[in-house]
Amino acid sequence: MMENVVQEINKLKKEKKAIILAHYYQRPEIQEIADVVGDSYYLSKIARDCKEQLIIFCGVKFMAESAKILSPEKTILLPVLDAGCPMADMADEEGISKWKLDHPNAAVVAYINSSTEVKALCDVCVTSSSAEKIINNIDSDEILFLPDENLGGYLSEKFPSKKFILWKGFCITHKKVNPKSIVAIKEQIPDIKVLVHPECEHEVRSLGDYVGSTSGIINFATENDFKNYLIVTEEGILHELKMKNPDKNFYVPGKTMTCVNMKKTTLEDVYESLVNNTFEIKLDEDLRLNALHSLMRMHELSS
Ligand code: 13P
Ligand code: SF4
Repeated sequence: MMENVVQEINKLKKEKKAIILAHYYQRPEIQEIADVVGDSYYLSKIARDCKEQLIIFCGVKFMAESAKILSPEKTILLPVLDAGCPMADMADEEGISKWKLDHPNAAVVAYINSSTEVKALCDVCVTSSSAEKIINNIDSDEILFLPDENLGGYLSEKFPSKKFILWKGFCITHKKVNPKSIVAIKEQIPDIKVLVHPECEHEVRSLGDYVGSTSGIINFATENDFKNYLIVTEEGILHELKMKNPDKNFYVPGKTMTCVNMKKTTLEDVYESLVNNTFEIKLDEDLRLNALHSLMRMHELSS
């Protein structure tokens, strides 16, 4: 392993006028070399608006593809080719096309955790931090929501006057949480605040003092004066939480929650990516144009 890989990355980044973006679930060392760390929504905005023409996207494939859909003129690199999102793979085009025929008047809302092909079939995308605002701004009272049944379920509870029909996808990382482990920690530390990502199941969400996106969880813990927090989402977020709140205590439920795909990217991969331009996201132009509408509407309806 190259010893000065961090210096090399910084040098190459400068030479190539590149920007490194990283999601909160990335390894701590990746978050540290990134120019911007954020949630899915914020990273999508930065990728669209940044002046740099070369973006190293340390996240998973749908994030890098979303950046390419919005900024076709930029070079978007995903350092690990097979860093995917199993939830995004749970929605297929054929099934969605049939679903739409069965519900011709419904608005089709896709969580950004979906493939470009799926985005092309939808009316609007959402992220967990922008979803409530967007749903509020959608005219239709009938919503087909995909692929995450849990985020969709959470939104249907927030908007009881709208009819939600949910695709049966889920995040394998957030599904593993056992509600009993949360109850057990609450018994041990009665004043603990439970912060939960909406990709968790209903039973887990109902134990939360706060339910929200990765940035929402970080803001809640940072802006409040409570001492103890149980963090019910992928463990990569602990890096930012501890950095911003060195005097607070953060706990995890039972076994650590790890997204294997988010953890695939290493410093060496980022270095290789800068040296060899790997792996460039390329999209068929007709497909990109079909998917563009849903991401542009996401940004319009959430601003
Ligand atoms: P957010 O960062 O938008 O909360 O998304 C979490 C996630 O699962 C990304 O894959
Ligand atoms: Fe996909 Fe879940 Fe990993 Fe996010 S945490 S990338 S939803 S598998």
